[in-house]
Amino acid sequence: MTNHLIDLKDLDNSAIRELLHLTDRFVEVCQRPIPKVPALRGRTIAMVFFEDSTRTRMSFDLAAHRLSADVLEFPTHTSSLSKGETLQDTVETISALGVDALVIRHSSGGLPREIADGVGETIAVINAGDGLNAHPTQGLLDAYTLCQHFNGSAGINASLEGIRIGIVGDIKHSRVARSDVTAYSSLGAKITVVAPASLQPDDIEDWPVEVSDDLDDVLPELDVVGLLRIQNERIDEELVLSLDEYIERFGMTEVRANSMRSEVVITHPGPVNRGIEIADAVLDKRPNVLVQKQVTNGVAVRMAVLFRLLGLGIEID
Ligand code: CP
Repeated sequence: MTNHLIDLKDLDNSAIRELLHLTDRFVEVCQRPIPKVPALRGRTIAMVFFEDSTRTRMSFDLAAHRLSADVLEFPTHTSSLSKGETLQDTVETISALGVDALVIRHSSGGLPREIADGVGETIAVINAGDGLNAHPTQGLLDAYTLCQHFNGSAGINASLEGIRIGIVGDIKHSRVARSDVTAYSSLGAKITVVAPASLQPDDIEDWPVEVSDDLDDVLPELDVVGLLRIQNERIDEELVLSLDEYIERFGMTEVRANSMRSEVVITHPGPVNRGIEIADAVLDKRPNVLVQKQVTNGVAVRMAVLFRLLGLGIEID
């Protein structure tokens, strides 16, 4: 692992396991009466979000505060970018201010890597989601949540060996699907992506997954159903089938949920379109829906990432 986190594909399996094991430590910190350690005191982390976010932004913010770092919010709508300053110059300015790490979300796939290549080792760049490309901390927190559910924790040899995971829905436009597949496959899970042909990516044959367009066919074989957000903004032009047909074939309806074994786990990265990917009654009442657990674990995972990049040689406690 360099001093950036851009894409889980840049990490080998042992680096992913190391981050998940480090997350175990921060889950324990988050459960303390005072969930805060001095590890990153004196470090400054800038949050640069060009796309909307609730979970990722707030959990990075909370993670930084729990590590005692200072947090600087970059005002994307009122910065000198509006006067024509380039983003690269803006990043160099942020670096010159003495910032140690930049957490960036942007609609342009590849932009965080361009920024990281530009700044070299001067400042750590962390990708908080870039276009359709990658959402590495979401991949880590989803993998961590499944390790915790099935094994109690990640441990030093985090594994999802033998776990059968279906990732269902808008695979084509999902950076979460891409990072989840990288994380899950590195831990040995068997993955099936389930989507109508119109929502399967063109390069799906290169992914380490099986592919299906029939959820009811694969459902009896799954231990985990990972639902994805249907991106309403793209639905008319690309979905081909109607929303009602989508729900009928791919939605986690009450009827479909009731047909599953009770121990089957449901995940969703959020935000959820209630009544589309998942019925209200399933989301709110079914056991083994891990959506809020994913959010909670997002803080510890992001503490682990920030500590790994900025805390070299520092004790956690
Ligand atoms: N899962 C996720 O990235 O959610 P936000 O867009 O709210 O950060």
